[in-house]
Parts: sequence; C-alpha cells; structure tokens
Amino acid sequence: MNLQRRKFIKAVALSLGVIACAPGLAIASSRASKGLKNLFSNDFEIGTVVGPELLINPKKELLEIVKRDFGVLTTENIFKWENIHPTDGHWNWVYADEFVAFGKSHDFVLHGHPLLWHSQIPVGVFHERKDKPLNRNALLAKLESHVSTIADRYKGAITSWDVVNEAFEDDGSLVQNRWLQTVGPDYIHLAFRAARAADSRATLIYNDYNLWKPEKRDRVVQLIREFKAKQVPIDAIGIQGHIGLDYPDLSHLSAAISAFAREGVRVHLSELEVDVLPSPSRDGLPSYDLALDPYRENLPDSVSLAQAKRYEELFKVLLKHRDSIDRVTIWGVTDDQSWKNDFPIEGRTNHALLFDRDQRPKPAYHAIAALKS
Ligand code: G3I
Repeated sequence: MNLQRRKFIKAVALSLGVIACAPGLAIASSRASKGLKNLFSNDFEIGTVVGPELLINPKKELLEIVKRDFGVLTTENIFKWENIHPTDGHWNWVYADEFVAFGKSHDFVLHGHPLLWHSQIPVGVFHERKDKPLNRNALLAKLESHVSTIADRYKGAITSWDVVNEAFEDDGSLVQNRWLQTVGPDYIHLAFRAARAADSRATLIYNDYNLWKPEKRDRVVQLIREFKAKQVPIDAIGIQGHIGLDYPDLSHLSAAISAFAREGVRVHLSELEVDVLPSPSRDGLPSYDLALDPYRENLPDSVSLAQAKRYEELFKVLLKHRDSIDRVTIWGVTDDQSWKNDFPIEGRTNHALLFDRDQRPKPAYHAIAALKS
C-alpha cells in the first residue's frame, strides 16, 4: 500500500471514529488543524462562499472555521442583479458594502460573483415599460452601466470578478437569453470591456459549469481565442465544479484545466462541492420522493468515506495542475448551507460540503488536509 493511501485511510478512520464517538474531540481536532488555506498556501488559494449569515452577527464557531480554513470569500447571492439592482436606478449596497467591510476587517481576499448573468435578474431589466422590450442600444447601455457601476464602486476591494456567468449550453451553443437576443453574441465581450474600463487591475473571469464536457470546453477555448484576437480582456476561466460521487470522470476535468491553461489564462475552481444524493431520472420534472432522500437522519459511514475519497481524488487532480490554478473555492461551509439541499429537488438533506450540520469537519475535510500533512 502506498504512503498516500495509508495516509488517507488513517485520516478518515481517525475522523470517523472521533466523530462517531466523541463530537467534542472532533471540534478539538478541527481547532488544532493548521487550516486548509495554510496547508495549500504553496499551491493555490482556498476559498468559500458566504451569505448574510456570516456577515451579520455570525456564530462564533462558523467565523472561526472560515477564518482558519479559507483565505478568499465569494458572496453566494449578494451581487446578483435582483439583489443589488432590484429596479432601475435603485441600488441595494447594504450587503455588498458589508461584505467588503467584513473582508477588510478579517483580512480576506474578496471575489465578486457575478457581474452579468441571465438568471436571478428582474424581467423589468429588459423592458422600457410593460410589453415594450428595450432595443439593443438601450439594453447595451444598461448592461455597461450595471457592470461599470459595481466594478468601479469596489475597485481595489474586490480582487477578482466573475464578469459573465454561464453563457453556454453543454453542447457549446450560446444560451438563448435576453442579452443574446437583444444585444447579440458580443454581449459577453462588451461586459468584459466594461469591467476592465471600470477596474484596470481586477482579475476578470468567465465562469461556467460542466466545463469538463468536451463540446463546452472547446467552445470556451474558442471564446478565449476570440477575446485575444479582438483584444478583449480576460484573465481566467472559472470551472464551477458541482460534482457528484460518480460524475464527472476526473480525467475530463484535468483535460479542461490543461486546455484553458494552454490558452494562456489562469484557472479558478470556483464552486466546488460533492453531492452524495441519488440523481432523479431525467424524464419529467423531478419531484420529492423519500427514496431520493435517503440520508435525512445521518450520512452512513460508507457514503461519508466514499465522499472523502472523491474529494481526495479531486484535490489530487488540482494539485497536479497547481501551476495553472489560482483559487479553489468550496461552495459553502457547512452542509446545511448548501444549495444542493434544494436542487434539483427541493427539501432534501444533502451532505455536500466539508463540515457537517454541527460545524464538525467531515472525513472529506481530513482527507484533503492529509494530502498536505
Ligand atoms: O432569500 C429568499 C427567501 O426570502 C425565501 O424565503 C426563499 C424561499 O425559496 O428563497 C430565498 O432565496 C433563495 C436564494 O437562493 C437565497 O437562499 C432562492 O429561492 C434560491 O433560488 C437561491 O438559490 C441560489 C441559486 O444560485 C439561484 O440560482 C443559491 O443560493 C446559490 O448557491 C446558487 O448559486 C449558483 C451560482 O450563482 C452560479 N452557479 C450555479 C450555482 C448553483 O445554482
């Protein structure tokens, strides 16, 4: 048995034993940890995603975990159009300002997500008045003003931005959204130009899911080439990384990282978690079914171990590409916070993250940490 394998088994056995028998000890062991951000400091930054629960009167234990393990913070929903710019001319800066103040006072690097997306955006954005859609020039002016107002306000405070989020389908075609239909395919280019004009130093990122799918990966490679040919600024690709126990094949992820790096951009793993629940069948709309929600009371050790192994394999791939990767962000801290409890079926109990619902580090946490200890 090789050394890495022995280390993995030791780490997860230790954590499973500790968690099963004596929760207090698990917390103690987590407090004794050097913290993921320190363990990986020679490889890439480690981040997480936060919402108002951390910014306003955070629970002390949660704050301690975030400060110890993560160096970069992303906001989960605060910068989305419907929240920060709910109606024309009305900006809601409260939480975004709080995020920046919190980051500054606790010494975090801050990542902004997203400047432009077609989801979580009021329909009114696209209309002059009811039943009268905006024309191209008017919508383009709105796009540029939205992007530059935010990027300018947080210049120097937010280090990197997901400038455009999820513009491509899995087959590589453009998502048929209102930006594409009204502004045209260059809306992506124009958003990046507006971001760069407002903030000359921020890292500008194109962020998407399923980028390990070859058709989608290749289309994004083509986007980078178009950008270079037209001198549109782009610094990095954000590979989201919403993965499961058995998908995707990690060699496809590895190939995508290599493909983007070859184009001369940096890579960020921007929204990682490992879903442990069964997937609904692809036919029809998924609805709640007890059989698809098997871990409501607790996560069996066997699944917890399989998840730890999966996180370990994933991080091995990321370490292999450490020269190309700047940041690895886990999409949440404790299992109860994950969007995966409500997607693709609402109201299930998922266990996708590194800390359980009692803020204890899981075997997955120890498996990752063991790679560097
Ligand atoms: O805030 C309201 C609350 O007032 C209301 O009672 C409740 C009832 O459903 O909804 C709350 O809003 C929810 C919001 O998260 C805050 O929790 C929305 O319904 C819910 O749709 C929204 O989900 C977010 C999702 O994006 C929306 O698309 C998730 O938190 C967020 O993690 C997720 O993040 C996205 C990334 O931005 C882009 N990549 C994919 C990723 C996962 O979908």
